[in-house]
Formats: sequence, structure tokens, C-alpha cells
Amino acid sequence: MSEATTPTHDSLDTPLARAAALPLPAADALAGRFPLTPNPHAATSAERDRALRDLHFGSAFTDHMAHARWTRGAGWGDYGVVPFGDLSLSPGAAVLHYGQEVFEGIKAYRHEDGSVWTFRPRYNAARLAASARRLALPELDQEDFVASLVDLVRADAAWVPSGEGESLYLRPFAFASEAFLGVHPAGVVDYYVIASPAGAYFTHGLEPISIWVTTEYHRAGRGGTGAAKTGGNYASSLLPQSLAADQGCDQVCFLDDVTQRNLEELGGMNIMVVDADGTVRTPRLTGTILEGSTRSAIIRLLTDAGRTVVEETISLKGLLEGIGSGRVTEVFACGTAAVVVPLGRLKGEGFDVGIDGNEVTHQIHDHLTGIQYGRREDPHHWMYRLA
Ligand code: COI
Repeated sequence: MSEATTPTHDSLDTPLARAAALPLPAADALAGRFPLTPNPHAATSAERDRALRDLHFGSAFTDHMAHARWTRGAGWGDYGVVPFGDLSLSPGAAVLHYGQEVFEGIKAYRHEDGSVWTFRPRYNAARLAASARRLALPELDQEDFVASLVDLVRADAAWVPSGEGESLYLRPFAFASEAFLGVHPAGVVDYYVIASPAGAYFTHGLEPISIWVTTEYHRAGRGGTGAAKTGGNYASSLLPQSLAADQGCDQVCFLDDVTQRNLEELGGMNIMVVDADGTVRTPRLTGTILEGSTRSAIIRLLTDAGRTVVEETISLKGLLEGIGSGRVTEVFACGTAAVVVPLGRLKGEGFDVGIDGNEVTHQIHDHLTGIQYGRREDPHHWMYRLA
């Protein structure tokens, strides 16, 4: 049974959703804020073509990276797109000791006419700023964030693949680079964007994945950093993720830390449940869940299509009963890297159940990727042309 008394659509009107809807100057007006220093050792076109023929997720990098540095007093400066290469960092850099770091994930898509687009960049800009606030890091101006994507993608446009489901995955991140061992916010912070031509996150594409629900570990606690996109949340998911693999599962799912009963999210993706009556439910944002851009877009698209979408507390017990009784027909995960992927099996202490359905999951995958790759109408003007 649904445990919410009233359906809510909170995620259509969060500060991130509102920020994402604000207009942006065209890319030509932002271009040049991060001036290019060309890489003298850039890959040859043969080397690049070889890399683009064999795409995995996140294992190859392009020729350049965007960079800016913040110092207390002077603020942000040193903007540029520079050759991709190793960083020189003091072993005393605060990020190495206290993990003061935030990051984002966003993709560039090649459309059929050769143009290159990204998806709701202001959403990621606003989320990076929100994560930075939580981690006591300085906020980067949101137009500068988008400008860094424009200049990097323009420099490395030849690296944007054009195959089905392929993209250039962009990874903006900022970290405390000042060297000291006291525990306090750093006075020097570096921002980078690196780019990686990417195929599917899961090598088996839209094949259903299996999930281990951990009752032993939690991803986040009340008042913690669960809503921020920061490395520590992912570091803490690695042990549970490897225990999930030991159980023969692809991913781990976390429950809330207070009741230890309610679904939160997977290691790096949000989760959604489809009921037999067509309702789609997803855990509501409690401060311990990451507010996913893909999650938000899916809520919007499903609502536009006339479906009831409910953000609520979803207990594991209720989910298992729903799967058993047929009230729940599909469960899927969503995120920028993985897009949309059906869950085919849910396993944990004392249960191991299969889920067969995937019709709504496939529909939403096709609708979203149709917009992202320029094959479908984009009524909310989510796509932003980079090059
Ligand atoms: C993304 O989906 O972009 C993420 O940052 C999640 C990460 C686990 C790849």
C-alpha cells in the first residue's frame, strides 16, 4: 500500500528545479571565458578514432580539461582550458585528508546534424553550488560553470561520439588544494572539468540489473552529506557495493538510517517503482537522498504524460509485498551515467525476488534519450547547444 496520505510533486519545484528553468545566454556569448591553451601532445585522429571505437564508461579522457582556481580574498580566477594531464598537488592538500570535494556528472550528446548539446546544465550548476555550500567550498558562478562546459567541449568536440547511447561524459569537480593539516575550510580550491567519451554505464545496456539491499550499511544520515554530490558518499558505498557483488548482484540499495526500513537510493542512482495502476512512486527527498537530474526530468515527463507520480516513503516490506501481490509491476534505477535501467531482481537477508516488467521503464528511457539525442520534441527547453 502507498504510505503517503497525499501525492506530492515536490521535485517539480525545488531550488534546483527552479534554477534549471532560468534562461542561459547562448553558448557563443559564454564561449571564451575559459581561454584555450592547446595540448601540444593531443591524440592523433587515428588514436582518437581507436578510442571512440571501443567505448566503456569513464576509462578514456580527452585532450583538454577546464580549470579555475579560487583563493580566499581574491575569489575565482585563472580560468582556462588547458592540456589534460596529471595534477601537481602537495601531499598536505586538505582534500587528501578531509575529503573536502564536490563533483557533478553531465553529458554532451551528438545530434544527427553533428551539433553537440547538453541537458539542463543549470541544474548541475545549481547542484554543484548547493553541494559546495554543504562542504564549505566556494560556489562557482553558474554561468561560469556552463562556460567551462562550452569551452571544453568546443576544444574537444571531435571526442563527442555519435553511436547509439554514446556521449561525452563531463565530470566537473572542485576540491581543497591548500596544504595544511588543521581541520578547517581551505583557502585555495581548484575546479576542473574533465571529459570522457562514454558508452553504456552497464555493459549489458537495458538488460535488468540485480540489487542487493543492505541492512548493514547506510549511505547517509540525517544532517549529513547525503544530498550533496561529494566523493565521501561514494567512498562509503564501495564496501557495501563489493558485498553486493559477493552476493551476485550488480548494485547495492540503501535503506534510511533512522527506521532502517525505507528505500533511499542505489550506490549512484535514484530508484523508482511502477504500480499496476500506472502510478510511479519514488522515495521523497529527505535530505539524505541525492536530487538527481534524471529523477527530476522523469517526474516531469511522467506528470506531463498524465501519470500519477508520488514522492513518498517507500518501505522495503511494502515493496516486497507489492511485488509478491502483483501491485508493483516494475522497478527501475535512474541517473545521468546509467540513464534508466530496469531492476530484475531484489535480494537481501531473507528474500530474493524477481521482477519481470519493464514496459514503462523502456518508454521513459526512450522518451528521455529521444529528447537528449534530438529525436523528440523538447517542450521544456532542457537541451542547450554547446557546439
Ligand atoms: C552520474 O550518474 O553521473 C554519477 O555521478 C554517478 C556516478 C556513480 C557515475
